[in-house]
Parts: sequence; C-alpha cells; structure tokens
Amino acid sequence: MKRFLLAATVAFAFSAGASDAADMSKMHEMMMKMGGPKPETRVEMKIPAPMKVMQKGMMRAHFDSLAEITASLASNDLKKTAELASAMGWTPEEKTRCETMSEVAGQQELLVYGMAVHKKADELAESARAGDRDKALLNLSQLMKNCNACHEKFRH
Ligand code: HEC
Repeated sequence: MKRFLLAATVAFAFSAGASDAADMSKMHEMMMKMGGPKPETRVEMKIPAPMKVMQKGMMRAHFDSLAEITASLASNDLKKTAELASAMGWTPEEKTRCETMSEVAGQQELLVYGMAVHKKADELAESARAGDRDKALLNLSQLMKNCNACHEKFRH
C-alpha cells in the first residue's frame, strides 16, 4: 500500500510537472509572438507600500465608477451619469488626495496625470447635464485614455 501511494504520488507530481512545462512552452511561444520579453521601462511611484495598497483600492473604485457611468449612458440615464461623473470630478477631496500623493512621492507629474482624469470627469458631467450623450461618450473615452496615460508612465 505504501509503495502504491509512493508510486501514485510520484506519477502525479510528474504529470503536474509535465503539464507545467507544456504551459510554460505555450506561454513562451505567446510571448515571442508579441515581440519577446521586454524590460520594465515604467517609473516606480515613490510612495510607501501601505499607500500603494490604498491607492490600488482607489483605482479599483475608479474602475467600478467607469462601469457604472457606462451603464448609465447605455440606459440613457444622463442625470445619473452627471451624478456619478461629478463624484469623480476635481473635488476638493480629490485635489487633496492627488496633491498629497505627488508630494509624498516627490513626483509632480502624478498630480498632472491625476488632475487630467478628474477634470475630464467634470467635462463628462457637464455634457451629461446638457443632455448630450454623444459628447458624454466621447468624454468617457478620453477619460479612460487619461487613466492609461499614467499607467503607461508609472508603476508600483
Ligand atoms: C497618477 C497616475 C494614475 C492615474 C491617473 C490612474 N492610475 Fe490606475 N494605477 C496607477 C498605478 C501606478 C497603478 C499600479 C500599477 C502596478 O501595479 O504597477 C495603478 C493600478 C490600477 C489598477 C489595478 C488595481 C489593482 O488592484 O491592482 C486599476 C484597475 C486602475 N489603476 C484603474 C485606473 C482607472 C480606471 C483610472 C482612471 C479613472 C486610473 N487607474 C488612473 C496609476 C494611476
């Protein structure tokens, strides 16, 4: 029995290893198709680890707001769009948060990228209030581009 268990364990470990190897070669092939491995070129945000955790939480909340804004536009509830977008606007709270973050990091550019996102949210709120859904959708697209402009430049 002991011997059987040992054989079964070895067989299992071997098969898991073999499938890991297959996964790795698939992964390697996929990466090569995308131009091969590349070095990280983004700049590290110089904030302490607990602040990074907090910032990531805020990021996920922002992402969720974008989903809600999209849904409100889909159902043509522009009043709701305006409400959600102004909550993401350049409010005194967001200003303080973005300023503090870039001061602690000593990286002024963070404030520039952050402000671009929140001011675009204000524009989006304005378009929604004016009842212009097409313009609001365009603003939403620009807002998302502004989010990613920072992601292209900075990492944790
Ligand atoms: C000032 C810079 C900046 C702006 C503006 C910004 N982000 Fe980020 N975001 C980051 C950094 C840095 C990370 C961490 C990336 C890493 O892990 O290296 C991040 C991570 C994230 C993540 C991953 C969170 C996780 O749990 O890992 C999401 C989602 C995200 N951002 C969404 C957004 C959205 C949506 C917006 C716009 C509304 C936005 N971000 C605007 C800098 C920014």
